[in-house]
Amino acid sequence: MSLLKVVKVPIDMLGSSEGVVAKEIATPGGVVILPMGVDISLFEASIGLLVKKMRECGIEYVYLNPPQQLSEDDIEAILENVYSDEDSLISKQKAKDVVKHVDSVFNNIRAEDEIRPEMVNAMTNLGSSLTEDLLRNPSVTLSLGKVQEADEYTFIHSFNVAVLTGFLANKLHPGHTEYIQKIVMGGIMHDLGKAKIPIEILNKPGPLKKDEFAQMQRHPEIGVSLAINSGVRDQDILSVISGHHEKWSGGGYPSHRKGEDIPETARIAAVADVFDALTARRVYKNAMPSRDAVTLILNDAGIHFDPRVARAMLVSLGLYPPGSIVSLSDGRIGIVISGGGKDLVRPTVMLMDSKKKKEDGGAPNFIDLKNEKSLCISSYLGQGDKRELGI
Ligand SMILES: [Fe+2]
Repeated sequence: MSLLKVVKVPIDMLGSSEGVVAKEIATPGGVVILPMGVDISLFEASIGLLVKKMRECGIEYVYLNPPQQLSEDDIEAILENVYSDEDSLISKQKAKDVVKHVDSVFNNIRAEDEIRPEMVNAMTNLGSSLTEDLLRNPSVTLSLGKVQEADEYTFIHSFNVAVLTGFLANKLHPGHTEYIQKIVMGGIMHDLGKAKIPIEILNKPGPLKKDEFAQMQRHPEIGVSLAINSGVRDQDILSVISGHHEKWSGGGYPSHRKGEDIPETARIAAVADVFDALTARRVYKNAMPSRDAVTLILNDAGIHFDPRVARAMLVSLGLYPPGSIVSLSDGRIGIVISGGGKDLVRPTVMLMDSKKKKEDGGAPNFIDLKNEKSLCISSYLGQGDKRELGI
C-alpha cells in the first residue's frame, strides 16, 4: 500500500513545489541542507540560495511527499494496518447491545406510548457495563459508532452521547463512578422523546421548517415524561434528558436556563451531543473531523457551552484527537490513539506497521511524542475515528 507518493523534484522546480522533504539532503561533508520532514514552503525566502548550494554539491533532485488528502479507502486501509487491538476499545458487542436496545425502546414508545419498567432496568444494566468499559479504555473517540443508514442515526447517536458524556464526566470528576454511571444512563436515554416526533421530521434530510422545529423542540420534555412514567426518579438522569439542548448563554430550549442554573449533567451532555452530531455523516452533510469539532466547540465556549466542559474536552482529546491520521516529521505515518494531555500537540501515535509487528510476535509500535522531543507531527492527513458497528 502506497499512501504518500513520494515525488522526485528537480532542484530547479523546487521554488514552485509543495510538500514535505521525504529524504534528507546533505553536503558531501554531512552538513544538512534540507532536513527530512520539513515543509518546503518554510524555505520560500531562501530557496534560491539552497538551490545554488545543492547545485554546487552536485545534487540534482529532492524527494518530496506532496500535500494530499487521503481517500476514505486509504483511511480504512490505515486503520486495518494499525489498529487491531480491540481490548483498548469499548467492545463492539456492548455498543451493538446499547444501540439495539434504544431501537427497541423507540419501537415500544411508538407502539404502546410508554417505556416498560423492565426496559429501564435493562438500560441501567447496559449503562453500568458501558461505564466500566469506558473507564478502562482511553480511546474513546475510536469507540464511537459510525452511522451507516439514515434511520439508525438516533440509536447510534444515543450510544455515542452516552460514551462521550461518561468520558467527559470522568475527566471532570475522576473516580465518581456512581455519577458517571448516571450520566451515561442519561446519555442513552437523552433523545427518547424523539420517538414521539413524526418520522418524516426526525429523519428529514436538511434543515427543518419553523413548525417542524417547534415540534422537534418538544422532545426533551416528552422524554422526561416518558422516563418519569416508567419509574425513573434520579435527577441526574432526568436533567440530561431535559437539559441537553440548553445553552450556557440562555439561548437554548426548552427552559432557556443560563450558566450554572443548567445542571452540570446537562452541560456535559450538550457538548457530547453537538460533538457527535458534528462528527456524524448524514445524507445532507459530511462528517466533520474530530479536531475541527473540538475547535468549533471551543469557539462556542461561554456562548453555547460551559467553558469548563469545553476545556475538559480539549485537554482530554488534544488538538489531534484519537483517530487522527498524521505524518511525523521523519515521514512515518500513524494514527493518534490517545489525546495530548497537557501538551495538546504531542499525543501518542501508533505507527502503521504495528499490526504486522504484533502478528510477528513483537509489540505494537507506539510513539509517545511527549517523550520523543526530536519528533513532531508534520501534517494532518485525515480522520479515521468512528467505527462500523455492523448492526
Ligand atoms: Fe436531543
